[in-house]
Amino acid sequence: MKRLAVIGIGRMGSRHARNLVKGVISGAKLVAVCDTDKQVLDAFCSKYKVSGYEDFVQMIDKERPDGVIIATPHRSHIAIAKECVKRGVHTLLEKPISVTVKEAEEVVETLKDNDSVIGAMMFNQRTNRLYKKAKQLIEGGMIGKVQRVNFTVTDWYRTQFYYDMGGWRASWSGEGGGTLINQCVHQLDILQWLIGMPNKINAYCKTVGRNITTENDVTAVLSYENFECVFTASTHEIPGTNRLEIAGDRGKIVIEKYKMKYWLNEYSESEINAKSKRDYGNKQDKKSKKHSLSYGLSRMIYDGIYGQQSRIIKNFVKALELGDKSALIARMEEGINGLTLINAMNTSSWLKKPVELPLDNDEYERLLDQKIKEEQANKM
Ligand SMILES: NC(=O)c1ccc[n+]([C@@H]2O[C@H](COP(=O)([O-])OP(=O)(O)OC[C@H]3O[C@@H](n4cnc5c(N)ncnc54)[C@H](O)[C@@H]3O)[C@@H](O)[C@H]2O)c1
Repeated sequence: MKRLAVIGIGRMGSRHARNLVKGVISGAKLVAVCDTDKQVLDAFCSKYKVSGYEDFVQMIDKERPDGVIIATPHRSHIAIAKECVKRGVHTLLEKPISVTVKEAEEVVETLKDNDSVIGAMMFNQRTNRLYKKAKQLIEGGMIGKVQRVNFTVTDWYRTQFYYDMGGWRASWSGEGGGTLINQCVHQLDILQWLIGMPNKINAYCKTVGRNITTENDVTAVLSYENFECVFTASTHEIPGTNRLEIAGDRGKIVIEKYKMKYWLNEYSESEINAKSKRDYGNKQDKKSKKHSLSYGLSRMIYDGIYGQQSRIIKNFVKALELGDKSALIARMEEGINGLTLINAMNTSSWLKKPVELPLDNDEYERLLDQKIKEEQANKM
């Protein structure tokens, strides 16, 4: 039985901890929790009869857990994760890995220095069978070469009430950004997981209808070697859309909410074009086989009760049992790519010009510091 502890038992961490207490994660049990908010800590510990600590280092030294789950505000992720890894504790980190790539690289270095430690990222959307199928289709060459991608993510609706709830949310100093770093970190991870990293990004980020200093509306063009991807996100639209469309020269994938359709063409577009003696109305371009797949009702019910995140915790426990980091759905260092996209989109929007990757990470640190200073000056 793996002994786990949770650091940060707010909205998300308390769910992870409850799942462990209730035995949802087979092969693991909760040995302790940590939160700097004494009231939150005492309430959880008295309800679930578990040891509580205000200091995570004390907790690790005393309880010696096999692994920890870190679910604290973004800015604390790196310092806590580095300390846990250095102490030889396997670590599952909530998204995002960090706020800046430069900082995130520190934990990747720490993991390299502590090779036996398993470091994982909470990228729960990678467990979505629709995205998994898309990955299989793309990597298996079934839709041919990718030619165009559109990802629209406008269904994370958030009110002013939500933003006012947590002091650290939607600020450059507290959260390190808005919708990109909070919500879209999931989709941007999926994007890079499916189609890799672009070489250039041009983004427009703005704030619409909310009293926050960070962005809640984004349009970005990601340029790859042979195609472009348009990424659109917002947290202020009703009704929202969640739609990923990937067109290849031999097929197409469309994932919308809980449904996926994909078309596999008998002929590639380049073959049809090369052979055709007609202007349009070719018979070959109609020879597409359409397939459908749904997320599945039982999966939706499970996610509703326990959270999709519990699937990642199960996977983390499995990797601990096997002592094998290659069994992980998402390794911690994989958090860097999605974060790079976010840092690049912000940079492009602030400088009002396209940015090339690899990004100048030192410049991003300077630009973010400047944003934090402006934010603090406006508060006074
Ligand atoms: N995977 C997902 O789908 C998902 C969903 C929501 C939130 N999250 C992530 O979970 C993390 C926490 O978000 P939340 O919504 O639960 O926030 P929250 O504010 O509700 O909870 C954070 C908790 O951490 C505690 N804390 C702060 N600093 C600490 C420290 N140094 N040591 C111990 N405890 C500390 C706070 O007191 C608070 O109770 C964030 O990284 C967020 O992005 C992930």
